[in-house]
Amino acid sequence: MKIGIIGSGDVGRTLASGFIKYGHEVMLGSRDITQEKVQQWLSGGGKNASLGNFTDAAVFGEVVILATPWSGTKNAVDLAGASNFMGKTVIDVTNPLDFSGGVPPKLAVGMTDSAGEMVQNWLPGANVVKAFNIVGSSHMINPQFPEGKPDMFICGNDQKSKETVKSFLDDFGWQTIDLGNIEMSRLLEPLALVWIVYGFKTNTWAHAFKLLRK
Ligand SMILES: NC(=O)c1ccc[n+]([C@@H]2O[C@H](COP(=O)([O-])OP(=O)(O)OC[C@H]3O[C@@H](n4cnc5c(N)ncnc54)[C@H](OP(=O)(O)O)[C@@H]3O)[C@@H](O)[C@H]2O)c1
Repeated sequence: MKIGIIGSGDVGRTLASGFIKYGHEVMLGSRDITQEKVQQWLSGGGKNASLGNFTDAAVFGEVVILATPWSGTKNAVDLAGASNFMGKTVIDVTNPLDFSGGVPPKLAVGMTDSAGEMVQNWLPGANVVKAFNIVGSSHMINPQFPEGKPDMFICGNDQKSKETVKSFLDDFGWQTIDLGNIEMSRLLEPLALVWIVYGFKTNTWAHAFKLLRK
């Protein structure tokens, strides 16, 4: 598939390389494609890798990934142009983190609303799926844990889009647990904070979630 990625941070570049690895065509979207990290990604990306601005990436993608800091996400959506997401699966990786009080961060929104729902409201014609937000970027592709495959919780309103995301997660080495509609982002974003707070408390960053079942 054609994957457009909005944001060239650790998450954007990691997912970009992961999608290339599994045979997809990726356009990494950046406000400044001359950045060294962006150019480096392009030079290692092969024939299926390309660069563009946020609008180019949103237009290019059959699936579009939002990988921007929460504080810049509305701006990123505006720069990309909401109409360019129409009818597409949009994977929302964002966490609404507030670092104003230092680390660990707090949630900027929660309980009665979530970043996932806000993104869905900004992009009413798109099918937003919250995914990849509950683990650090270095474990997003081919996570390796002694206890086996970790679980990726996802949510979103459109079943077909969630199945598309599940198929990516299958390739990347995750078990997928679908929690329901996009409102379940109210659970997944605090769950990311569990991951983050545990990381700061122990200064270890090699953990992921697994739901134990009988
Ligand atoms: N880092 C992780 O391990 C991790 C794990 C799970 C979820 N998340 C969430 O995923 C998102 C991306 O994480 P990240 O660590 O990759 O973020 P990041 O490095 O802080 O930012 C990602 C990219 O967003 C773009 N950006 C920054 N400020 C912007 C603004 N004001 N307006 C528009 N675009 C802006 C920049 O891309 P350009 O300079 O190319 O325009 C930047 O490289 C965040 O919401 C984060 O909470 C992160």
